[in-house]
Amino acid sequence: MIEETEYKKRRDSLAKKLSANSVAVLFSSEVKTRSNDTEYPYRQNSNFYYLTGFKEDDSSLVFVKSKGKVKTILFVQEKDEKVELWNGKRLGEEKAKEQFLVDEVYASSKLSTKLKEFLLDKQSLYYDFSLDYSKVKILKRYSKQLFSYNNIATIVNKMRLIKSSSEINLIQQAIDITQLAHHKVMSLKKPGKMEYQLQAEIEYVFKSNGAYSDAYTSIVACGNSANTLHYISNDKPLLENELILIDAGCEYEYYASDITRTIPVSGKFTEPQKELYEMILDVQLQIIAMIAPHVKRSELQKKSEELLCKGLVELGILQGDCKKLIKQKKHKKYYPHGIGHWMGIDVHDEAPYKDEKGKEILLQEGMVMTIEPAIYIDKDDENVPQKYCGIGIRIEDDILITKEGCQNLSKGIAKSIDEIESFLNHQ
Ligand code: GLY
Ligand code: MN
Ligand code: MN
Repeated sequence: MIEETEYKKRRDSLAKKLSANSVAVLFSSEVKTRSNDTEYPYRQNSNFYYLTGFKEDDSSLVFVKSKGKVKTILFVQEKDEKVELWNGKRLGEEKAKEQFLVDEVYASSKLSTKLKEFLLDKQSLYYDFSLDYSKVKILKRYSKQLFSYNNIATIVNKMRLIKSSSEINLIQQAIDITQLAHHKVMSLKKPGKMEYQLQAEIEYVFKSNGAYSDAYTSIVACGNSANTLHYISNDKPLLENELILIDAGCEYEYYASDITRTIPVSGKFTEPQKELYEMILDVQLQIIAMIAPHVKRSELQKKSEELLCKGLVELGILQGDCKKLIKQKKHKKYYPHGIGHWMGIDVHDEAPYKDEKGKEILLQEGMVMTIEPAIYIDKDDENVPQKYCGIGIRIEDDILITKEGCQNLSKGIAKSIDEIESFLNHQ
C-alpha cells in the first residue's frame, strides 16, 4: 500500500522541477471502446497514477506555478446517480477533497474553463506529448501565447526510476503471485495440452490471488514458436521433447513483474537443450553478479554479448574468433535483444537510459531492472548443428539494485535444471 503522504511527496518533488509561471497538466487514461458499447478494462495512466494513486477515468491533475508558489488542483468526475448505477460509484469532489492532499478539487466539467484561466498569464506548459486525447486539444487551444512547451512525461518517467520501499513491496507481491503461477504450470502434466491451456492456468493464478491482470500478454511458446520474440497467439499443441518458453508476469496494485522460464514439456531436458540452457543460465548468473550501484547497463549488455558469443562458439553454433564475431554482429542473429529494461508501474518502465547531456545513467540503489539473456535458433537454420535447431531459451528475473549490489526479487522461482526437473516430476 502507498500512503497519501507519499503521493504528496512525489507531487511536491515534481512541483520543484517546474519553471516559474507555468502550468503542468496530467490526464487520466481515456476509456477505450472494444466494440460497439463494450469497453476494454480500464487502466489508469501510469504517470497520473504515480502522482495521485487515483483510479477513476475523466480526471486530471494540474499544477499552477506563479511567483514561485505552486497550487495543485485535482479534477474528478461529478457524482451522478444514473451513471453510477451502471458503472459503479465515483468518489466525487467532496470525498476527493478529504482524501487527497491537494490544494483544490473541482468537477471535471469545469476543467476547460479553469485551464483557460490558469493559462492566461503563464509562459510554459507541461503536458504529455504522447497523448492525443481531446483534452490535450483544449490545452493547445488555450496556450497559443506561451513561450515553451515541455514534456511532463520525461520528468515523471525519470522520477519513477528510483523505487521507494512501498513500491518495492508491491513489486515483490506481484512477483510472489507470478511465482505461484510459474510453479503451477511447471507441476502440470503437459503432453497433449495446448499452449493456451497453460496461459489459462497462469492467468487463473494471477486473478485468484488478487492481481489486476497480466502485466503484458503472456507468452507460452512451445518449440520453434519461442523464436518469435513476441509470440502471443499461444495456439499450438505442446509436443513431447520440446521446450516451452513461458514469459508471464502479473500486475498487482499497478506494479508489474516480468519473468521468463523455459521448461521441457516431457519433464526432462534433452542433452542439446541442457547444453544451451546451462550456458545461458551461467551467463545470466554472471551478469546478475555484476550488478551494483555505479555500473552501466551498457556494460551488462556488452558482457552478456561476449559471454553468449563465447558459449555459442564452444557449442559449435558459431565458428571463429569471438572478438571478430562480435564486431561483425554475428551473435545478434541468436541474441537480438537487450539484456534487460527498467520495470515498475509499467513492465517496460519508460524511464530514460541516458541523462539530458546524453550521458548514460548509472545504476543506483532503488532501481529495478530485468535481466533476460536468451538464445533463439530457428528450426531451419542450416548453419547450426541440427540438434540445436528449433530451440529458443530465455531466462528472465527481476533485479533490485541495492546499496551493496543487488537482490534478485524472483530468486524463489525454480530456475536450475535440477530445480525445474524436480518440480516437473515430483509435484
Ligand atoms: N515480457 C516482455 C519482456 O520480457 O520484455
Ligand atoms: Mn522483460
Ligand atoms: Mn518478459
